[in-house]
Amino acid sequence: MEKVLVTGPTAGIGRAAVLALAGMGRHVIAAGRSETKLETLMREIEEVGGTAEWVKIDLASLRSVTEAAAEILDRHDRIDVLVNNAGVGASRGATRDRFQLQFGVNHLAHFHLTELLAPVLGEGSRVVQLTSEMHKRVDGIDFGRLRRPTRTWQGIRAYSASKLANLLFARELAKRRPELRTYAVHPGLVDTGIFPWFAKPFLGNALTPEQGADTVVWCASEPSLSNSTGGYWARRSEREPSAAARDDALATELWERSEEWCRPFH
Ligand SMILES: NC(=O)c1ccc[n+]([C@@H]2O[C@H](COP(=O)([O-])OP(=O)(O)OC[C@H]3O[C@@H](n4cnc5c(N)ncnc54)[C@H](OP(=O)(O)O)[C@@H]3O)[C@@H](O)[C@H]2O)c1
Repeated sequence: MEKVLVTGPTAGIGRAAVLALAGMGRHVIAAGRSETKLETLMREIEEVGGTAEWVKIDLASLRSVTEAAAEILDRHDRIDVLVNNAGVGASRGATRDRFQLQFGVNHLAHFHLTELLAPVLGEGSRVVQLTSEMHKRVDGIDFGRLRRPTRTWQGIRAYSASKLANLLFARELAKRRPELRTYAVHPGLVDTGIFPWFAKPFLGNALTPEQGADTVVWCASEPSLSNSTGGYWARRSEREPSAAARDDALATELWERSEEWCRPFH
């Protein structure tokens, strides 16, 4: 039975994706921060006839990511699909390790998790990385600002930069680990908890979480994609990301800096 590890499985797109994948016969490893929500999810997965387990992770703490990864490595010798889904939107603040919140949770924690799980991500394992069309709102990453909480920077700009980082990471990972298959997915505009109250009135045409999860589930499971890696996907088709997201020097710089930042937590 294929094993699928999903971060942020307790709400929105992640929850819809795990229920779909469990219904397709995948064993779900749900990585979330709330035990109560994870226990509820386990019951929901049982109701669709699936099997699942959970591991506690707080993506706003690199130490917590290290501990969760150790637990996963203890329990499993192969993960077939890793879905780096969890995310924060325009919220203000910083992570425990004093990274700007969106960069820390959306990119750095997932970089760290993926690196630590390298021993169980083998030939043909897939890494599905959630990103967003919002990555096009920025044309680079201001590395100097990432150690400052989102106070002077607008949250939405910080979010867009973190989504650019998600694309650059998936692209660079495809190069460095050719045995893996990576897919960066834009799920569409989806009505979930990631939007602050003031954005809700603009969500008239937004997708449901189930619709938003469609390309995520497809990239996690579609056999015909098994020869493709490093691409950007939306509505089940490959798209061209921004010029910044295709900047190999920027991807390498992001990788090397991320490695440096995560090293103390190995
Ligand atoms: N919604 C959209 O229109 C849209 C568009 C483009 C891309 N995306 C991307 O899709 C992904 C999922 O977003 P969503 O819209 O489904 O958002 P959501 O409904 O707010 O769900 C976010 C998930 O991330 C988890 N999470 C947040 N901070 C965490 C932390 N510190 N540690 C562990 N888990 C944490 C949440 O956990 P709790 O359940 O405990 O809160 C929740 O399960 C994100 O990467 C987002 O950038 C969304």
